[in-house]
Amino acid sequence: MTFSAKLWNVSFPWVVYNSSGPRCTTLDELKALWNSESSAILMKSCSPLPRDGNPEPRYKEVELGSINSIGLANHGYKKYLEYAAELKSEFPDKPISVSIVGFCPEDFIELVEAFQNDENVDILEINLSCPNVVWKPQIAYDFEASDELLSKIFAVPGSKPIGFKLPPYFDPVHTEMMANILKKYPVNFITCINSVGNTLIIDPETESPLIAPKWWLGWLGGDYVKPVALANVRMFYKLLGESVTIIGCGGIKSGVDVFEHLLAWASLVQLGTVLWKEDVACFERINKEFEEYMSMKWYTSLNQVIWKLKEL
Ligand SMILES: Cc1cc2nc3c(=O)[nH]c(=O)nc-3n(C[C@H](O)[C@H](O)[C@H](O)COP(=O)(O)O)c2cc1C
Repeated sequence: MTFSAKLWNVSFPWVVYNSSGPRCTTLDELKALWNSESSAILMKSCSPLPRDGNPEPRYKEVELGSINSIGLANHGYKKYLEYAAELKSEFPDKPISVSIVGFCPEDFIELVEAFQNDENVDILEINLSCPNVVWKPQIAYDFEASDELLSKIFAVPGSKPIGFKLPPYFDPVHTEMMANILKKYPVNFITCINSVGNTLIIDPETESPLIAPKWWLGWLGGDYVKPVALANVRMFYKLLGESVTIIGCGGIKSGVDVFEHLLAWASLVQLGTVLWKEDVACFERINKEFEEYMSMKWYTSLNQVIWKLKEL
């Protein structure tokens, strides 16, 4: 039994797809995603101009997950428009989502306009975990800047679903502040969570950090972050209700992890670290594990799971 899903007017054959970042930067990587059991293709966060990103080493895997400081390396949005055209012509029936980053509001507007007007792109995910003004926090932690940015983004004409990739919030007051901003606009979905920022992993053998950039501090994914992701999915559902679809992301590496994210009120889920570790074969394995787990519990529909976390 397979479980399909919907994001606004876009159909997904399964509930699992890739998150923006790991293995979705080049055309070859995107084609591999098309040929896999990923339910959609989400491309690497792209900016107006190409970026080389931070110096190596900038990504490391450890037993419990990964740490990275890639620095938003990407080919620039014009390349992703070309990639979307090529992918749609070869594989017309999987949704294509872009991920947009910018370093000022004008960057976001330029990219939202370009992708809203492109016939090959189905969904716009806007990455709010990016640097804004020097000495100010990333956009999603700067509530005034987020509100202003959303007002500009939703002034751009277009009919495609728009959602926001959010960093984790650790204080319920902050979660509520962001939810109140989201409620002001016709937001279709949010993706919770982006990596947990500014963390340090030390290798006791070599007595050194694992990555070089930014005082060796990096962004954490994998097992480490699953409870944080689940808490954010659950809190945003509580604050936003069913008007905004929630996409769970963080610490998913098995079918049971998918099940937990759905229980916490996610409708679709994305894979990051596990995709980097195992490559695209992880989709088939995780879809199969999820289906087996559902059968074991005698569940035949996603409605028996999503939003069904039991009260204590
Ligand atoms: C190497 C790497 C690069 C990433 N780059 C991006 C990115 O460009 N845009 C984005 O929204 N998230 C990015 N992320 C964050 C992931 O999409 C995901 O939110 C995070 O890793 C948590 O999921 P996980 O526990 O499955 O890894 C990146 C993560 C990794 C590991």
